[in-house]
Amino acid sequence: MIPGVRLVILGRQGSGKGTQCVRLSRHFVVPHISTGDMLRAAVREGTPLGKSAKAVTDAGGLVNDEIMIGLVRERLSAEDAHERGFILDGFPRTVTQALALDEIGGDRGVELAIDLEVPREVVLSRLLARRVCRDCGANYQATGRDPRPWICDNCGGDVVQRDDDTTEAINNRLDLYETQTQPLIEYYGRSSRMVAVGGTGTPDEVFDRLTRAVETTR
Ligand code: AP5
Ligand code: MG
Repeated sequence: MIPGVRLVILGRQGSGKGTQCVRLSRHFVVPHISTGDMLRAAVREGTPLGKSAKAVTDAGGLVNDEIMIGLVRERLSAEDAHERGFILDGFPRTVTQALALDEIGGDRGVELAIDLEVPREVVLSRLLARRVCRDCGANYQATGRDPRPWICDNCGGDVVQRDDDTTEAINNRLDLYETQTQPLIEYYGRSSRMVAVGGTGTPDEVFDRLTRAVETTR
C-alpha cells in the first residue's frame, strides 16, 4: 500500500474543514492543501491571480474551474504531495474539478472523501463570529467582549474578520455549496469513496470522529 493519506474534505463553509484539516495534516503528516488559503495568499501578494480572484471571493462566488484545476495540478506535482499524499480543503468544489482531480491523481488519486456535516444555521453563526489571524491564518470565535486590537496568540499578528464573512457573501457561498458542491457526495459515493462524519460538538470530538473514519476505511 502507498503510505500517507489522500483525502478530500467536503462540507459546508464554516463546517470546520480548515480547523480540522490543520490537525489531520499534523496527525497523518501530509500536506494540507487549502485552495481558499492559496487564493488569499495570492490576494495578499497582489499577483495577477490575486487581483482577478479578489472580487469573486469577496462576493462569495466561485473562481473559474480552469484556474483552480491549474493551481491544484501544480501543487499536487510537488514532491511532498507526490510522496506522502494530501488533505484537500476546498477542492474540488464542482463536478468538473472532481473529474480533473481523478485524472491528475491517477493511481495516487483520492482514496476517501469525507463530508463534514453541520446544519446551515450552525455554520451561519460560526462564520459570523469567525476571526482569523492575518499572518498565520489561526481561527478564533469572537465573543463580543474581545480585545481591540486583537493580537494572535500564535504569532502576534492582527486578528480580523475575513472580507468574505459578510452575511451576503456567506449566503452566496452556502447557496453555491448546495448547487455545485453537494453533487460531489453522489460522485464519490458511486466509487465507494464517500463517508459522512458529524461536524457538531467540540473540535476534539470532531477530530476523533474524523481520524476513526479514515482509519476504519484503510
Ligand atoms: P475557503 O477559504 O475554502 O472558504 P469556505 O469554503 O467559505 O470555507 P470556510 O473557510 O469559510 O469554512 P471552513 O469549513 O474552513 O471552516 P473553519 O474551520 O474556518 O474559500 C474561500 C473562497 O475561495 C471561496 O468562497 C471561493 O470564492 C474561492 N475558492 C476556494 N476554493 C475554490 C475552488 N476549488 N473553486 C472555486 N473557488 C474556490 O471554521 C469556521 C469557524 O467555526 C471558525 O471560527 C472556527 O474556529 C469555528 N469552529 C470550527 N470547528 C468548530 C466546532 N467544532 N465548534 C464550534 N466552532 C467551530
Ligand atoms: Mg476554510
